[in-house]
This record gives sequence, C-alpha cells and structure tokens, in this order.
Amino acid sequence: MILVTGGAGFIGSHTCAALSEQGLPYVVLDNFCNSKPSVLERLARITGQRLTLIEGDVRDGALVSRVLREHGITAVIHFAGLKAVGESVADPLKYYDTNVAGTVTLLSAMRAAGVRTMVFSSSATVYGDPVGSPIREDAALQPTNPYGHSKLMAEQLMADLDRSEPGQWRLARLRYFNPVGAHASGLIGEDPQDVPNNLMPYVAQVAAGTRKELSVFGGDYATADGTGVRDYIHVSDLAEGHVAALRYLQDHAGLLTVNLGTGEPVSVLQMVKAFERASGVPVPYRIVDRRPGDVAAYWADPDTAARLLGWKTSRNVDQMCADVWRWQNGEARRL
Ligand code: NAD
Ligand code: UFG
Repeated sequence: MILVTGGAGFIGSHTCAALSEQGLPYVVLDNFCNSKPSVLERLARITGQRLTLIEGDVRDGALVSRVLREHGITAVIHFAGLKAVGESVADPLKYYDTNVAGTVTLLSAMRAAGVRTMVFSSSATVYGDPVGSPIREDAALQPTNPYGHSKLMAEQLMADLDRSEPGQWRLARLRYFNPVGAHASGLIGEDPQDVPNNLMPYVAQVAAGTRKELSVFGGDYATADGTGVRDYIHVSDLAEGHVAALRYLQDHAGLLTVNLGTGEPVSVLQMVKAFERASGVPVPYRIVDRRPGDVAAYWADPDTAARLLGWKTSRNVDQMCADVWRWQNGEARRL
C-alpha cells in the first residue's frame, strides 16, 4: 500500500489517477490547506474506485505513524508542501515548517515503522538561475528564495539519511520543471485559490473571460521572441514519472535524483498562441516589465530519467492547452 501525502493537490491527484491506472493501491493524506475534498470524489469517478482519505497534517508525527501502521504502508509519495515563491519570501518559517520539518517528521515516522521507500517532489527551482540549459542533474544548486531553499534542504536531508544507513533506503528526488495541463477526462486540474501566479492558469482564465488580459512579464529577454522560456510538462506525464520512479526503487536501493521535464523550450508567446489554437478564443496580452526574480530561460536535460526510468513525456504543448481548456470550461467552472 502506498501513502500519497498531498494527494488531493494538483500533481498528487493526477498521480493517484496514474497509480489506479496501473492497479497500484494507495491512501491519501491531505490537510486541504490548498485543495478541496471534492477532488477525491472526481478522482473516484475517473478511477471507478472508492478512495481512502485521511484528513490530517504531515507534520503530525503520531498521526503519520498510525497511518503507516494501520494501512500497511510500504512506500510513500510525498507531495504535501507549500509552493508559492512570493509567500515563502514573506513568511519563510511557514515554508521551512511544512517543507522541511514536515519531511523530517514523515521520514522519522517512516524509519520507526520500517518504511524506507519515498518519492519526493523537488523542483527545478533548486538550480536557481542556471548557468545554461538544458540543465543536467549535476548542475550547480543555488536556489534564490526560501521556497527553493526548503526544497534543497529536504533533498539534502534525504542524501544524508541515505549516507547514514547505506543501502537501507530507497529515495527518489524528482526535480519537476513547469507542470501544467489537466487530466484528459476534464474532471481534475489545477485549481488556484487566488489570482494565479503561474502562466498557464492565468492564460486559461483570460481565455475563459474571467480575467481581461495577460501581463507578459518582459519582452526584452535574450530569447528568440524576447519573452521568458520554460520547459512545460503535462501533469499526466509527470504523474507517470512517479510511477516509473516507484518501480525503479523496487529494484534499486539508494538515492535517485532525476529531472522530470520534456527538454523542449517554449516561450510565453508560443504558449499564448498554442492556447489560442486549442481554445479557438483570443488571449489578449500586454507586454509589461519583467517580474523581479524571474530567470530568462531554462529547460531540462531529460536523458537521466529516460535512461534510468525508461520514462519520457508523450504529451505536447497543444495537448497541455487542450486539456486545460476542457477542465477550465467544465468542472473548474462548477467549483
Ligand atoms: P498543491 O498545492 O496543489 O498540492 C499540495 C497538496 O498538499 C495540497 O492538497 C495541500 O492541501 C497539501 N498539503 C500542504 N501542506 C500539507 C500538510 N502540512 N499536511 C498535509 N497536506 C498538506 O501543489 P502541487 O502543484 O500539486 O505540488 C505538489 C508538490 O510538488 C509540492 O511539494 C510542490 O512544492 C512540488 N512542486 C510543484 C511544482 C508546481 O509548479 N506545481 C513545481 C515543482 C515542485
Ligand atoms: N509569466 C507571464 N505572465 C504571468 C505569469 C507568468 O508572463 O502572468 C511568465 C513568467 O515571467 C515566466 C513564464 O511565464 O517567463 C513562466 O512563469 P510561471 O510563473 O508559470 O513559472 P516559473 O517558471 O516562474 O515558476 C515555476 C514555479 C515555481 C518554481 C519555479 C522554478 O511556479 O514554484 O518554476 O522551478 F519555483
């Protein structure tokens, strides 16, 4: 049985769908600080299964210990965390508490229960302002904000744990690039609680008429069209990467560190055009000043994941946009 912390969230819910597709049993632990319980009903419609949910906090060691024991957990996928860069600058303690202390609590409970397999949500943010792209896993790690520091600290503690008990742990650090998209069913997707910070949900809300226009942050970067360039990965491809990592850990003890990205650079304006094609609706935009702290361009070298996990992405930008549009115009409107 797999424990999915943060399984009601954006990436967690899609990973639950991918686990069900592979017939892998799991339970979800979530405190709903950034998601809603209704996600699990929609997930049940996708999977045709009743899901087991434990409402609670990953920082609650007694609860986590009980869940590990009572559900016979053998592996954990750890999504529960906070992810807003700006908020992490304003309230760093909150980020270190959830993302670092939460991971310490979870790993301590796991060790006590003899559960030694964990797949962890890290981020390309650990590379900070990269020297060049595509980025390989051995690139310098130099995060630029408390959120990034908290992810790097969690990565570091996994490495130290592996070193302290060689061969005892099976730990994967998955560095996601920019997750976007929604489930092909249109039933689950990204559901920002406030004004979206990220490009894709903002574009979707402009296309849907909820927001007037997109502010494109910077038109004078040293990129082909002057706008920022990223590696957008469909959340269902990302979800399947977690299943591949779990399978890898079944056969390999130790520490795995891989980028999960497509390796394809895409600019803001390319994404806007792709969304217009997918939706058939214009996405008005205006080029404004650069967003402080933004990097001009970065994308993944996805070769390690392909080589070790036998995993690569299969959904392109057009599919990412089509799936977001289906979600935005359907279930998302009813929430
Ligand atoms: P999300 O906010 O949609 O999902 C996180 C889930 O964890 C939510 O359901 C939330 O309620 C839950 N949660 C948060 N704190 C908790 C706690 N203390 N106890 C129990 N549950 C808690 O975010 P997401 O986009 O699905 O991200 C999942 C993970 O991936 C996070 O750790 C995030 O930092 C990481 N990540 C996300 C991105 C991205 O752009 N979405 C990129 C890189 C890494
Ligand atoms: N952008 C706009 N307008 C918007 C929003 C974004 O032009 O309204 C641009 C940004 O300037 C950037 C690109 O769209 O060029 C992507 O921006 P996102 O905010 O979607 O993603 P980021 O790459 O800036 O940030 C993401 C995650 C962070 C993580 C970071 C590094 O959201 O949590 O990747 O991995 F820290």
